Amino acid sequence: MDAVTLKDIQFQYPNAESPILDGVDLSFPAGKWTALIGRNGSGKSTIVRLIDGLLVPQHGQITIGSLPVTEENLTKVHQQVGIVFQNPDNQFVGATVADDVAFGLENRQVPREKMHSRIQQALAEVGMEALTTSEPAMLSGGQKQRVAIAGILALRPQVIILDEATSMLDPAGRQLVLSLLQRLRTRRQFTIISITHDPNEMAIADRLVVLESGKIIRQGSTAEVLQDVPLLQKIGVGVPAGQALRQQLVERGISVPLRYFTVKEMVEWLSQQLK
Ligand SMILES: Nc1ncnc2c1ncn2[C@@H]1O[C@H](COP(=O)(O)OP(=O)(O)OP(=O)(O)O)[C@@H](O)[C@H]1O
Ligand SMILES: [Mg+2]
Repeated sequence: MDAVTLKDIQFQYPNAESPILDGVDLSFPAGKWTALIGRNGSGKSTIVRLIDGLLVPQHGQITIGSLPVTEENLTKVHQQVGIVFQNPDNQFVGATVADDVAFGLENRQVPREKMHSRIQQALAEVGMEALTTSEPAMLSGGQKQRVAIAGILALRPQVIILDEATSMLDPAGRQLVLSLLQRLRTRRQFTIISITHDPNEMAIADRLVVLESGKIIRQGSTAEVLQDVPLLQKIGVGVPAGQALRQQLVERGISVPLRYFTVKEMVEWLSQQLK
């Protein structure tokens, strides 16, 4: 079962000379974490705006589960899909953390008596229950993104999209947000779509989809795509440390299995060989 499907999507911005997306066929399997990667300007955020119904393709069809993304279905689409954007400061609409989470629920006419428990539950899930009455200005970037995630969780969507949601965070904040998402995913059957330039964030995904010049040029398991060093170089992604190590060993004539290694796995593999 696919959570999101794009079928033969063509999209061109008004006044642009050529289409940004040209015949994109793409499925995001339900319950899986897919990272969408590619150079700046390759059309990743455009795909997000199309899935969310903010932009309308000139050709092709997008469905969320079995729900076609059309103007009349937009309310339902927004119930199914939650997006966390790049800039933590642009996500806040409430005066306090709790108000912010409440905002989305009010918009969707969730009854008042249900709201309080839903807000508390969502904030607890992201580890922000102690800061319910805090003002947004008091929070770190990572905390703001966790509140943004709580706002989405409260709406109980099927699909969460992260459009470079960790790119403005410091390493500690990024790590917290990513491990939170990993935990949530095992607890609830979310489909996650993350857009990232960070090899470590890619490595967490189950699948990678590579976008280049308006087309999908590669998709497959994370391990399979991340061990393709020439491909990563082609799309300007820094080669993950474990892969760089693997490459250097191979260049020194050491035979290393052809698969994706994290640094930790590479170290374990090496110590096995030295035994
Ligand atoms: N509103 C717009 N009007 C015209 N062109 C646009 C508009 N928004 C984006 N573009 C162009 O469309 C192309 C794809 O943009 P998009 O934001 O989808 O790329 P991206 O892959 O998300 O890039 P990045 O990694 O920098 O976020 C770019 O060339 C961009 O300049
Ligand atoms: Mg983008």
